[in-house]
Amino acid sequence: MSAAPLELAIILPTLNERGNLAPLMERIAASLGETGWEVLVVDDNSADGTADEARALARGDNRIRVIQRIGRRGLASAAIEGFCATAAPFSAVMDADHQHDPALLPQMLESLKAGEADVAIASRFADGASTKDWADPERERLSGLANSLARRLTGVELTDPMSGYFMLRSDIARALVPRLSGIGFKILLDLLSAADGPMRVREFPLNFAARREGESKLDRAIAFDFLAGLYDKTFGRLIPTRFALFGTVGAAGVIVHMAVLALVLFWFGEGFVYGQAAAVIVAMSFNFILNNALTYRDQRLRGAATMLRGWLGFCLTCSVGALANIAVASLLESYGAFWMLAALSGILVGSVWNYALSSRFVWGRY
Ligand code: GDD
Ligand code: MN
Repeated sequence: MSAAPLELAIILPTLNERGNLAPLMERIAASLGETGWEVLVVDDNSADGTADEARALARGDNRIRVIQRIGRRGLASAAIEGFCATAAPFSAVMDADHQHDPALLPQMLESLKAGEADVAIASRFADGASTKDWADPERERLSGLANSLARRLTGVELTDPMSGYFMLRSDIARALVPRLSGIGFKILLDLLSAADGPMRVREFPLNFAARREGESKLDRAIAFDFLAGLYDKTFGRLIPTRFALFGTVGAAGVIVHMAVLALVLFWFGEGFVYGQAAAVIVAMSFNFILNNALTYRDQRLRGAATMLRGWLGFCLTCSVGALANIAVASLLESYGAFWMLAALSGILVGSVWNYALSSRFVWGRY
């Protein structure tokens, strides 16, 4: 049998999906036939050895390829990685956990090839779809609001704008990549809203299954991710989303700082030095935890040892920021700037420093 030309890449972002890969390959092959497609496993250095499992499978099956990313995280950026790594003219993104039925792939591909749509989306909420194997009423309730926001953002009527299962032409995806934030997991929404005009969409009702093995990584992230995305599209060019989050967390930290300081001063009756020291430590830890949970939720640090190392690193980077803060503020003040303005400038410079350093050294690669 001669091999069909490569037509479709199935991008599987993975985080601890080791046991799900082999059976998924079989289901994909059963749906698409022997040739004409490839699977790209984009793994973020999963602790369970998903990347090694993918390589082991790939040695016996040259339709499988692996991208193992170290020091980077995120479903959206994994999908982008896939678009940019394939030679296939069409790309699909889907969960590796068997929640997305590969049986839809041929219909989605045919529809795109026939020019019926720019994007084929497997929808959990289109007519004929079902989510009965998957009980999560909180998510369904959320999707009502999400859908109306999404309509504004994309100009398209969608029943499931947060779907993680969709297909489009790879070159269109790549052309949109420079405009994507790559943050979080709402990659479909990002693509649709980055396009110049409304994209032509066709939805395919999906029977959303229960996860086969392992656990969901996206619980409760949806509402937050959505708001971050909305911000990104509106003010993101002016002040980057992450910096805005970092700054907001920092401002909350100032309130915590004052509260602790007041408590030590007036409740415990201790001196200012003790109060200030306690306040700095509490506020820094507060900021670290909140930034880890929100600002960097897509590359969150987990586990006691990792958290401790991250916390130490954060305190260290903050002290560099504090030095910059004091230097700038006192310089300006000595030039006769109004004290509050001098202090504010110091805070601004300090937080840019903190942001730059911690995004690289605490949540980044090193
Ligand atoms: N590389 C990489 N990096 N993969 C990731 C990451 C990450 O940071 N986080 C999750 N994944 C992988 C998972 O291993 C899985 O294959 C897929 O991305 C989706 O993650 P799940 O943990 O299965 O998400 P879910 O089932 O809770 O969320 C579903 O609904 C969302 C919207 O409600 C998925 O269908 C999502 O795609 C969808 O956006
Ligand atoms: Mn899933």
